[in-house]
Amino acid sequence: MPITWSAESQDFHLHNECISYAIRVLDNGWLGHLYFGTAVRAGRSFAHLAPGEFAGFANRVGDPLALEFPTGGSGDYRIPALAVEQADGSGVLDLRYKSHRIMASKPSIPGLPSAYTEVGGEAETLEILLVDPVADLEVRLLYSIFRDRPLVTRSARVTNVGKSAAIVRCAMSASIDVPDSDWQLITLNGDWARERHVDRRDLRPGHQSVSSLRGASSSQHNPFMALVRPSTTEEAGEAIGLSLAYSGNFAAEVEVEPFGTARARIGINPDGFSWILEPGASFHTPEAILVYSGTGLGDMSQAYHSFFRERVARGSWRDKPRPILLNNWEATYFDFDEARLLEIASSARELGIELFVLDDGWFGQRDDDTTSLGDWTVNRSKLPGGLESLARKVEDLGMRFGIWIEPEMISRASALFEAHADWAVGIPARPRTEHRNQYVLDMSRPEVVDHLFGVLSSVLGSAPISYVKWDMNRNITEPFTASLPAWRQGEFMHRYILGVYDLYDRLTKAFPGILFESCAGGGARFDPGMLAYAPQTWTSDNTDAVDRLKIQYGTTLAYPLSSMGAHVSAVPNHQSGRMTPLSTRAAVAFFGVFGYELDPTILSEKERSSLAEQVAFYKKWRQVIQYGRFHRLLSPFEGDGNETAWMTVGDDRRTALVGFYEVLNRVNIGPRRLRLRGLDPAALYGVSVWPADAEPSVPTVTVGGDVLMAAGLVIEARRTSSLGDSLSRVYVLERVESAGSNGADQA
Ligand code: DGJ
Repeated sequence: MPITWSAESQDFHLHNECISYAIRVLDNGWLGHLYFGTAVRAGRSFAHLAPGEFAGFANRVGDPLALEFPTGGSGDYRIPALAVEQADGSGVLDLRYKSHRIMASKPSIPGLPSAYTEVGGEAETLEILLVDPVADLEVRLLYSIFRDRPLVTRSARVTNVGKSAAIVRCAMSASIDVPDSDWQLITLNGDWARERHVDRRDLRPGHQSVSSLRGASSSQHNPFMALVRPSTTEEAGEAIGLSLAYSGNFAAEVEVEPFGTARARIGINPDGFSWILEPGASFHTPEAILVYSGTGLGDMSQAYHSFFRERVARGSWRDKPRPILLNNWEATYFDFDEARLLEIASSARELGIELFVLDDGWFGQRDDDTTSLGDWTVNRSKLPGGLESLARKVEDLGMRFGIWIEPEMISRASALFEAHADWAVGIPARPRTEHRNQYVLDMSRPEVVDHLFGVLSSVLGSAPISYVKWDMNRNITEPFTASLPAWRQGEFMHRYILGVYDLYDRLTKAFPGILFESCAGGGARFDPGMLAYAPQTWTSDNTDAVDRLKIQYGTTLAYPLSSMGAHVSAVPNHQSGRMTPLSTRAAVAFFGVFGYELDPTILSEKERSSLAEQVAFYKKWRQVIQYGRFHRLLSPFEGDGNETAWMTVGDDRRTALVGFYEVLNRVNIGPRRLRLRGLDPAALYGVSVWPADAEPSVPTVTVGGDVLMAAGLVIEARRTSSLGDSLSRVYVLERVESAGSNGADQA
């Protein structure tokens, strides 16, 4: 049994082969946190970790007691997990254990994305009921543990059992107290076109946090953080990951208190948030996913990768090879007609590309970004036969067809705005801020969601559409909804994202065969909440191969390659103006869900044959890339950042791909060794280099898996001035059945 309860010592132990998580009911009924870490045997007592007699904080000077779901006002001055204002205006809570139950399943969270099970006995859930009879509140804490995964999911449900309304001011999904502060904090930060750059800093006394108030999880910060020991590396040391399955305003925060312990919490951002809890009503927090690794950051990431891929992502595309797509955005922007699109699609088809995606500009009067968002009817002057004619012609070419939508937005110049100006988010007494010439639709209103479901269902039902890119190009300003009274405006941002989830839920259920890719001006909503509906996300609008090294490397801290849209685009790059070799653009984009963002009709014959070869290469290795085990080898965030390397290994360890990248060419340097990971030490691997015509040419060698992991792969010396900058190599490792080498023939 993965969850045990000892009535004698009053502790819960959630455990599997990988981790243990221990909780104790303290003498006064509060819930103490005992341990989260490496698995220990079932039946072990943790009693010595918590005070024997505990009656509250009174007279316990500066006691840094570890708690599971702390509240303020009775002596714990650290950041709380829950704050509720009661009818008398007070905010003190005193939650005490009442009961618990253990379920052989994993419940879902109403209205919110959450992890799930697929086979019986895969997970167990502990629900602990805490009550505060003065506040008339019941709080249910939910913990699920899965077989063979080093993680625990957590959420909370707060119920008003009184006769007066209460106001939830802060409701975290998880809070965890760690017994010392000798940790560093890793977060993923950036902005448009430089999303999820890795930042690692020492914990300092006081608060350190990342958060969003933008209405989206944001490109500035990601709803993820990790606590790591200063000595933790990819391969060794402790790491605790906290991730939130939520796409709106979040906060991830750590507080180091004066006695040197640390409290981490993750959940909905309390800033600007409040929720009126009427008598009898419940509030559900989003789900947090807590991973523990005692063996480095790499194992933490792999736990997230497989969990997000297998038990958060849903739908018919979850386990399927994702198609190689060509998106017309950077090829045409808004300037296209059916003939032009078919020319591009047909040229793409000749290269072996499988899916043609029609991006922005196919609807209303949209010839630039000033109009028509909200008017989801086909622009007949561009597409006289509608989407159906175009989609059928694309299908006749032997490709699938997909479209771009931006459901949550409305242009001032649109029929929808003329009919429903009040549906645009804004405060009646203030001007609305326009951004990218558009406003945000009030997704907190059910009638708006119903309307969008209706119009988008007719669009998606009107043609053979296999793929949808769901964009969201601006953040929310002037947050306010006309549908709620003044005292409930604090609910708006959360209700907005609940409306987005509702629409996603309805559309993905109504069109189960469609592959959804989420997007928010690139990767401003790359989070596990989105992955529950759209198993892949457009990683960044920045397709520059050099910039993508940092973006993709950082993204892999938490997210699998199967979730990361990665495309080859034209040079000079439209975002950075940089020139990079075509082979390097592909070598970077291979490590994601591969595609193109360019006009194949204007390429030279040589470039076209390179593209055809890239497509064939990706198809051959797609399974290993999208569903293999990913390892980071060299970080672009360390040292001078000039080199990056990563690899992915097939599940059976028969094949692996290694990507090595060097931003600036270094003249006249010798070979270097790159230690690989995750291979079968007993196997022999044939190692070849992509592209086959790489300069200088590299002979295929056969090397033992153990040798490749212990001594390393040799990255050949680069002595040719013609190589230039942005060099890349993809090494292909294929297991060979008979010994072709004793491992010594490579150097
Ligand atoms: C932003 C997206 O990230 C781009 O890929 C493209 O779809 C544009 N929006 C279209 O407006």
